[in-house]
Amino acid sequence: MTAELPMTAALARRIMLIRQPDEIIARNGSAFFERWWLARTPSASTARTGNVYLHRFLRSDSEDPHDHPWTNETHVLNGGYVEQLFCPVRIGLGKSITRELTAGMSAIREPEAIHRILSVQPGTITLFQTGRKVRDWGFWRGSEFVPWREYHGLPADWSKPAGAELLPNEEITALTGGRP
Ligand SMILES: [Fe+2]
Repeated sequence: MTAELPMTAALARRIMLIRQPDEIIARNGSAFFERWWLARTPSASTARTGNVYLHRFLRSDSEDPHDHPWTNETHVLNGGYVEQLFCPVRIGLGKSITRELTAGMSAIREPEAIHRILSVQPGTITLFQTGRKVRDWGFWRGSEFVPWREYHGLPADWSKPAGAELLPNEEITALTGGRP
């Protein structure tokens, strides 16, 4: 729980009115959430710090669960969601817990934390902070880990082209498969 955030739901809404989202994250052709970049490092793998985003959720993320390349911290500014957290892979994906995060609550996930969002309140907005990149990430089909490039049908050596951040939203989403 963070007592004093330098961001409020009202300020986030103002930013969202002024600027179009920098990315629209989609899954299976269906938009999942919109992302505004507040602070973004040129290369998360070499940077000493991570990124800061605003997320506005459009729906849940109840497909295959995923993990992340960095430690990540969520602060719910408006609305809320229920997420499912799975046990470490050595135990298996069969065991999980669910937790509800609502406005004013925060949560920190380790990069290896496997999760998915089961339900979202209308108008949910979060401030999302990442650490620096420490690992490759991917999706989980049952107990099978699928690297994100493979999951999205991209070559194993694929990397985002230089300057991709400057491309229009739709192209970025298409290039990255929407994540991270
Ligand atoms: Fe996630």
